Order: sequence, then structure tokens, then C-alpha cells
Amino acid sequence: MNSTDTAKAPKGLFIKTYGCQMNVYDSERMRDVLRPLGYAPVDGPEQADLVVVNTCHIREKATEKVYSELGQLKKMKEASGGRMTIAVAGCVAQAEGEELIRRQPAVDLVLGPQSYHKLPEMIARASRAVGDRLETEFETLEKFDALPRERNADGPTAFLSVQEGCDKFCTFCVVPYTRGAEMSRRVDDIVMEARSLAAQGVREISLLGQNVNAYHGAAPAMDGGEDWTLGQLCRHVARIGGIDRIRYTTSHPRDMDDDLIAAHGDTQEMMPFLHLPVQSGSDRVLDAMNRGHTAADFHAIIAKVRAARPDIALASDFIVGFPGETDADFDATMDLVRATGFAIAYSFKYSPRPGTPAAELPRQVPEEVKNQRLQALQALLRDQQTAFNAEQAGKTLDVLVTGKGRMAGQMHGRSPYQQAVHFVGPQDLIGRIATVRIVGSSLNSLTGELVSAHEAVA
Ligand code: SAH
Ligand code: SF4
Ligand code: F3S
Repeated sequence: MNSTDTAKAPKGLFIKTYGCQMNVYDSERMRDVLRPLGYAPVDGPEQADLVVVNTCHIREKATEKVYSELGQLKKMKEASGGRMTIAVAGCVAQAEGEELIRRQPAVDLVLGPQSYHKLPEMIARASRAVGDRLETEFETLEKFDALPRERNADGPTAFLSVQEGCDKFCTFCVVPYTRGAEMSRRVDDIVMEARSLAAQGVREISLLGQNVNAYHGAAPAMDGGEDWTLGQLCRHVARIGGIDRIRYTTSHPRDMDDDLIAAHGDTQEMMPFLHLPVQSGSDRVLDAMNRGHTAADFHAIIAKVRAARPDIALASDFIVGFPGETDADFDATMDLVRATGFAIAYSFKYSPRPGTPAAELPRQVPEEVKNQRLQALQALLRDQQTAFNAEQAGKTLDVLVTGKGRMAGQMHGRSPYQQAVHFVGPQDLIGRIATVRIVGSSLNSLTGELVSAHEAVA
């Protein structure tokens, strides 16, 4: 068998990632799957034998980008004399399937988010020009079982997917169709992956899921094997040696249970940051979105979270111009933002997505109105973000140092509240937690002065 010979030949791999953190995680896992076949990352698509475009379908703009990217790659493939293989992965691959190959025949492979473990087999098939060029099955657990156990860490922070898919069916959203039904990984598997990351110097883990706080994975057999919640999982991961910081994203207000909230108060590894998308402040719109919560529910959750962890930084997502949204509905969103106070938030114009119920609703909001509302909301959110950052001035914060800053001698890291922090310090701080006094702030970052560094972990 000469498969080891082929395995040794170095081949260039370039993965272009769009969309959410789960796609970032998936791209890393594709690298892990392809490494034993001799694929090593290269700096640009021109040098690559295999280019994977990991796509996002969430808004129309995101999908359009994919087709323009593929147009560019087609030219490079021709210039390479056909040596380049082009694979399309992610949510557009899942949603459009064969249509992608029809629209862009230069595409060799199309694989949905649950098929990444089949990538080696698909590449082999493509090179022999036999069999299907499409894999869009929905067996999530099978994927996680088949992916390599080892992770290759890249710096002191890492993503770790613990949950995938969504059963909530918000009327605007494609995720339940592209990622499939909600499922949770087993605690043991997550712990094994987290330990492997910790052993490589990872200090901060972000647990990921499209609906991460709906997590309900099987506990270790010695703990009874029943399903655990995200709160239980966080407390457990916090005990892994070397893991000093835990984050999780993205949550749904309906699944924000009391134990998870309590963990923010009693587990010091839980970072004081919560990304809890609310989408709108109008109960009428929230109902039409099928969110299953009201603005008052959101305020009640935030009050509990703040009681458990008073300094918590709050983040959220908003959609403006959902079908039927009136000026009064939009004002209710602005009121919710004013009443809450966000450290950071992401806001989007509603984008009708094919196959989702909201796309068929009457009273779609005109583009100019969406633009005006988005501008007003973003101005308010920017003010809140600037104010939140300014409040840190004078404080002394623990900063996980992630790398060198842009200026000579400067280091870069993250505060507990997820802000970027720049300060002057030695390079051996990378991967360690430094104590930094904050002296300045702007919309997007903080500047500080090094006070001291914690001991490096052995
Ligand atoms: N699972 C996460 C979010 C997934 S998508 C959650 O439920 O919170 C990330 C964000 O994109 C959403 O929170 C929403 O604000 C936005 N989004 C999703 N579909 C959209 C659409 N059709 N138009 C505009 N924004 C959208
Ligand atoms: Fe989409 Fe709603 Fe599911 Fe979030 S909860 S992924 S917005 S359907
Ligand atoms: Fe986009 Fe899919 Fe993530 S649609 S936001 S890449 S789950």
C-alpha cells in the first residue's frame, strides 16, 4: 500500500474562513484532518494545491462574497494548470449544494458543516474524478467522533465547539437549516480536547455553539452519565490544570438558567463577559421573530446576571428593519439598549433569506429606513462601547498576553472583559497573564502599563 508515500508529499493548503467562530473552529479541524495527508498551510491561495472556502449564509452579503471569491479562485486554478483543487465548505455549501457546482464549475468539492471528517476521502475521489462531489449529510456526532483527537493549538486562546445546530427556528435565520438539529458533544470528549489544548499552552478556552447555553451533553459515566448543563460543563472545564479563563458563545435568553448565572459569580475562571443576543426591544417584533422571550424577560435575566457578577460586560446582537418593524418598535429597541448598557454589540439590517418564514412576510421595510435605523442604533452602541472602555481607566486588570502589538516593544492581550489591551512589556509574557494598569481607552482598545506578571505555568 503506498498511501504513506502520498502522505509524505507536502501539499499547500489555504483555508479562507467567513462567518462565525464555529467556522473558525471548523477550519482548524479541517487543517487537523488534512495534516496526516501532507497538507501544510501556505500564505496565499496562489501557492495552494487545495483551497477551502469555509462559507457563511447568514445574510445575503455573506453569500455574495462567496461567489466573487470563487470567481477569483477559478482564474488562479486556470493559471495553476488545473493543479488547484477548490472545495467549498460551511453554510452556503449546506444550503446550496449542487447549485454551487452549477454556478461555478471550477468547484471540485462541496461539503456541509457535518462532513469535514470525510474531506480526505472526497479529495481522493475528486483526484480520480469519480463519485459524488457533494457531502451534505447531517450526522454531527459522527463528525466529532471521526475527527482527530488531537488539536493543534495556535496561541494561548482557543475555540472549542461543544454544541452544534439549532432547534429554535427564529423566523429570520438560516442556521437551523444549514447546521441541522441541535446536538451536544459528550463531556469526556470535550475534556479530552481541552486537556490537549492546555498541554500546548492554551490558557483561555471559548466554548462554542450556535446555541451554546442549550448544551445538554452526556456526563462522564463515573458522574452518572446523565446530561449536564453548560453551567456544569463550565465548572468542570475550569478544573483542568492550566485553563485559567473560560468564555462561551453564543447564548439564547431562553436557555440562560440559574446555575449558569450562578457560575459567573462563584467560578473565578468564568470571565465577566456575556454575549446574549436579544435582536429587538419590541415584544411585537420578538414575537414575529419567534424568539420566545419578551424585552422584560431579557431585563430580568440581565438583573440576575448583574446580581451574580456586578461588573459583567454585556454583548448582544440586534436586527433592524425586520418585516413590519415600525418607528415605535425601533424606539423600543433603542430604549432597551439605553436601559441595559452594552460593552459591545453587533447590529445588522434585516436580510431576507431564502426558505425562512420572515422572507415571505408582507410589509418588508424599505432599505433607506433600515439604513437610518442602523445608523442611529450603531451611534448609540458606539457611545456605550466608548463609555464602557473609558470606565476601565485607572483600574488594574489581568491581561492574557496573546502576542506582539503593532509598535516596537508593544504587547497585545485581552482583558477579562474581552477588550484588546496594548502595553509595553517583554515578549516572554506571551501566553501568560500580566497585571496591567489601564491608562487610556478608545472605541476599540485600551492602553496600559505593565505592573507585574503571574508565574508561567510549568
Ligand atoms: N445563534 C446565535 C446567532 C446566530 S447568527 C443566536 O441565536 O444568538 C448571528 C446574528 O446574525 C444573529 O444574532 C442575528 O442578529 C444576525 N442574523 C441572523 N439572521 C439574520 C438575517 N436574516 N438578517 C440580519 N441579521 C441576521
Ligand atoms: Fe438562528 Fe435563532 Fe437559532 Fe440563533 S437561536 S441560530 S438566531 S434560529
Ligand atoms: Fe454563518 Fe453558518 Fe455561522 S450561516 S454565522 S457560518 S452558523
